[in-house]
Amino acid sequence: MVVELVVDRVVAGGAGLAQLDGLKVFVPFSAPKDRVRARLTVRKKDYAVAEVVEVLEPSPIRTAPQCPLYGDCGGCQLQHISYDGQLVVKKLIVNDSLQRLGRVFTPVRNITGETRPWRYRNKTQYPVAGGRRPSIGFFRRQTHDLVDVPECLLHPESFDKVRALMLELMLQTGETAYNEKNHSGNVRHLVLRAPDADADSGMVATVVTRTRHLAGPIAEGLAAHPSVAGVVHNINPNQTNRIMGAESQSLSGEANLRFRVLGKDLRCSAGSFFQVNTGQAEALCRKVLKHAAPEGTENVLDLYSGVGMISLVLADFVRSVTGVEQYRPAVRDAEFNAAVNSNQNTRFVRADVDSVADSLGDFDIVVLDPPRKGCSPETLRAIAGLRPGRIIYVSCNPATLARDLKVLGAMGFQASLIEPVDMFPQTAHVEVVARIEPAA
Ligand SMILES: C[S@@+](CC[C@H](N)C(=O)[O-])C[C@H]1O[C@@H](n2cnc3c(N)ncnc32)[C@H](O)[C@@H]1O
Repeated sequence: MVVELVVDRVVAGGAGLAQLDGLKVFVPFSAPKDRVRARLTVRKKDYAVAEVVEVLEPSPIRTAPQCPLYGDCGGCQLQHISYDGQLVVKKLIVNDSLQRLGRVFTPVRNITGETRPWRYRNKTQYPVAGGRRPSIGFFRRQTHDLVDVPECLLHPESFDKVRALMLELMLQTGETAYNEKNHSGNVRHLVLRAPDADADSGMVATVVTRTRHLAGPIAEGLAAHPSVAGVVHNINPNQTNRIMGAESQSLSGEANLRFRVLGKDLRCSAGSFFQVNTGQAEALCRKVLKHAAPEGTENVLDLYSGVGMISLVLADFVRSVTGVEQYRPAVRDAEFNAAVNSNQNTRFVRADVDSVADSLGDFDIVVLDPPRKGCSPETLRAIAGLRPGRIIYVSCNPATLARDLKVLGAMGFQASLIEPVDMFPQTAHVEVVARIEPAA
């Protein structure tokens, strides 16, 4: 059925939202104030989904997408909206999530945008599929089928070249691609990371395989590429959606990335987390520092500390920082980084935050930067029990931030400031820094 709709706003996930006789209709790839003809593709009791057939009147913030595969490839959701428009849309997504899901009405500040909204990513994880006729691309939207993307406009051009080289090497060596349906074949992912999206060198290429085997000429061929500083082999024998397995070995050259953020030299091993946008990671750290507002005497607990980026930036301005991180190589990176940057007032604990958050001492400031799923209520209770003067919550998922703020609210802590940072232009993802304080 084709209907006419006027889109009201864009919601979490990036779809436009319209009403049809009181029914909510989600319209992917639409923009606020678009008038569209759209085909209903899903109809449920309390919502429907429709795809745009024709734009009758375009939104004032509509623009032509730059990627020819936009809409087909699952990577981007907002290329049809101008970058300034995306910043407004994302601020409203954060506002909407916090109010609707968390009953948090703290005004959301303007989002800190990226001056370079294309080719900003320092990391790309390509799935590999196709058995004996391998292809390396991105997942087609809402599927696990591959789209061949010869050029992605979100990452450095050198990544496209190394991807093409990898495909050539697989064809030359007869190395098979993984088949996730029957858990056969070998090469599962090619993960490319560089210090910065501008960097034409220092790239670490990680080849993830199901078995322990990887044809020798693949590592040699990748290592010979001028942008590649090192090749790592990761083995993931499990039938899982997780990309990396537990075991990695360096096959050639440098096994670690080197990032530089606010004057800190940061080593990051191939499997450790680092923000995918190096420039905006700096903006994020500035916000954390500003909103933590240390006076020099504070003891800080940095939960989910990764390779220590936020810990070390704060360490110069406080008495001590204790970081907690469960991934052992990241803890080793953080310790190395503390030594290299002469931050002797830091310690890093390898542990699950859920089991230690309330047992590491007294803290004036707690910083937390959990994965997308946010925190457990027990962890939030443990943090509240520390009675910190400030909590700085860095979130990459406004929905779980909203849920966690609601839990903290019930424990006497309220968000006094909410400030989004755009780490992920052209996509619906958004990072948020929240300052949370004991309610007056
Ligand atoms: C979003 S990253 C933040 C890292 C760091 N703050 C940064 O900005 O670079 C989340 C980190 O939490 C770690 N992590 C996830 N779950 C954890 C848990 N239950 N306990 C401890 N660390 C965890 C991950 O390994 C990852 O390094």
